[in-house]
Amino acid sequence: MLDLRDIVVTHKRPGGEPVRAVRGVSLTVERGQVVGLVGESGCGKSSLARVASGLEAPTSGEALFEGRPLNALKTRQRPLEDRRLQMVFQNPYASLSPRRTVESQLLDGVPGRVERSDRSAEVERLLTLVGLPVGAANRYPSQFSGGQRQRLAIARALAADPSLVVADEPVTALDAFSSAQIVRLLQTLVAELDMAMLFISHDLSLVRAIADETCVMYAGEIVERGPSEQLWNDPQHDYTKALIAAIPEIGPVKRLPGLDEN
Ligand SMILES: Nc1ncnc2c1ncn2[C@@H]1O[C@H](COP(=O)(O)OP(=O)(O)OP(=O)(O)O)[C@@H](O)[C@H]1O
Ligand SMILES: [Mg+2]
Repeated sequence: MLDLRDIVVTHKRPGGEPVRAVRGVSLTVERGQVVGLVGESGCGKSSLARVASGLEAPTSGEALFEGRPLNALKTRQRPLEDRRLQMVFQNPYASLSPRRTVESQLLDGVPGRVERSDRSAEVERLLTLVGLPVGAANRYPSQFSGGQRQRLAIARALAADPSLVVADEPVTALDAFSSAQIVRLLQTLVAELDMAMLFISHDLSLVRAIADETCVMYAGEIVERGPSEQLWNDPQHDYTKALIAAIPEIGPVKRLPGLDEN
């Protein structure tokens, strides 16, 4: 489905040393599979995500989607078959405008023409899929909360009937509660719609919750890949161990000294 081969991404900076953000990454996502990509800030996740979603050409290496090379084209200029690859970003406004109605933006996402008589049914279907009320259609993204806006961005991606969604930190900007809800929504959608997903996050516990397999990225390289549970229970690479050790344990809050009841 998605086949990244030896991808290198070097960012040129005017007047500075080029940044080698991705240093030879190979990664595959199979049909219906959820692959997690985890690593600390600056390790190259978004640089790789932009290649994986065809937004940027790699400096070297090959990116194939459904067996064809991904051309770095803006989504709207893409041939219809490449729209089966959709993206969800940290900032929902990367794919939505705050000031156009939800309905018109969702319809924009549908490849090909939608007959006038089918439009409201399609918008209704998409809103329902992401758990938003049908009445959202005539409102504007700016009138929604962060979590709801991310639902709209997901609905926009689903409009193209994607076989693969690349989600780059889709819940990082949200509070813990909304974040958990969006993760649950993505899980449900992947199962119901038979989509594959590349789920990118700096948060290993989130990735573990959603991904069948996890790739750990460190300084532009993938240092470990395995089934998420196995990687969690028996990490091989020192960096993976450090990531797991850094996760705060959740449990009953210890009583603070001095705050005991009399
Ligand atoms: N357009 C760009 N021009 C120059 N340098 C860039 C560009 N985009 C990213 N970089 C650099 O490449 C490296 C990797 O960045 P990238 O955004 O891919 O990391 P990331 O893992 O997504 O980080 P985060 O978790 O903060 O989103 C960083 O050193 C970053 O400063
Ligand atoms: Mg990033």
